[in-house]
Amino acid sequence: MKPKIWLSSPHMSGNEQSYVKEAFDTNWVAPLGPNVNGFESDLQSYLNENRHVAALASGTSALHLSLIILGVSHGDEVICQSKTFSASANPIVYQGATPVFVDSESDTWNICPVQLEIAIKDRISKGKTPKAIIAVHLYGMPYKVDEVNKIASKYNIPVVEDSAESLGSLYKGQNCGTFGDLSILSFNGNKIITTSGGGALVTRTKAQKDKAVFLATQARDNAPHYQHTHIGFNYRMSNIVAGIGRGQMTILDSHVTKRRSNHALYLSAFGDNDKITFLHEPEGYFSNRWLSCILLDSKSTREGLRLALEKENIESRPLWKPMHQQPIFRDSPSYLNGVSDDLFDRGLCLPSGSNLTDIELDRVVSAINTYFALC
Ligand SMILES: Cc1ncc(COP(=O)(O)O)c(C=O)c1O
Repeated sequence: MKPKIWLSSPHMSGNEQSYVKEAFDTNWVAPLGPNVNGFESDLQSYLNENRHVAALASGTSALHLSLIILGVSHGDEVICQSKTFSASANPIVYQGATPVFVDSESDTWNICPVQLEIAIKDRISKGKTPKAIIAVHLYGMPYKVDEVNKIASKYNIPVVEDSAESLGSLYKGQNCGTFGDLSILSFNGNKIITTSGGGALVTRTKAQKDKAVFLATQARDNAPHYQHTHIGFNYRMSNIVAGIGRGQMTILDSHVTKRRSNHALYLSAFGDNDKITFLHEPEGYFSNRWLSCILLDSKSTREGLRLALEKENIESRPLWKPMHQQPIFRDSPSYLNGVSDDLFDRGLCLPSGSNLTDIELDRVVSAINTYFALC
């Protein structure tokens, strides 16, 4: 069996271990310390000095704290892009609120502004203004930020920007992760940079960051004994994990360059294949191309190709199954136009890691060419 080619695997710079070693050498083996502060300040410098960053245990915990900070509670409704990973939607349910799913548009595969406004108007007419909108930059492609923000401000609804997959992407020259009222990042093992597991909340005010850190560290009141007037969480990032993050920040831009070159290579290899289409960057959009995705001409071609790659020990995966199709969210209200269903049927994510070698990429390209030569 040929060696496995992964969709997106961790890619260390070599600098990580010195930060981790320093943490051990100085006994900062705790969910606070110089690496946590350093990683937060590295992220802040990278994203925008006018933002504040709280390093957390995961992107999911950052989404959960966002909703708490926005006051989402039992009985509320929160709009969420349907085409996403379940972690975007689960924290709505943690808060006892109901997710309302909105379909995608085909220019970016992200939340459709037309369906978004239809959904908001309909929910208001039923007596409930949504408490927040969760919009996602899927696979690194920015969502239609101006259109979404315009609708959000028209109805005075805050936006939680799920930037888990889009660190290093830009919309009109501005970094993804800085557009929401609150924004989140993920450093899970498969992301553009990883801390093994981890995430961050990006806020517009220091008070919001302080609140997030307070809640993430068990909500301890200022007293010599342990006293609590809020329910807290154990959501802070550890100083060991943050050391990995500091090392990863030194190569973030080169990871973006390499992932974009993977995508360019697939485009040049298959751009002329009339059974394959690509998602292009609209003007003013810059995607980190976290995952390179293709659309096939039918669901059966997509599944045939996936299985052909699997035989060659090459991992590929259908695009995210929309939340409105998930059994767990069957009863949630949804505003649909068919786009995300079609993307799920015909879309495939190809190996996209920044550590892919030329030999591995050649194997992927020739496996795809062989599949089309035989079918
Ligand atoms: C779109 C999206 N949102 C949220 C998350 C959750 O991040 P984490 O795995 O760090 O909790 C992920 C990835 O895992 C994701 O892809």
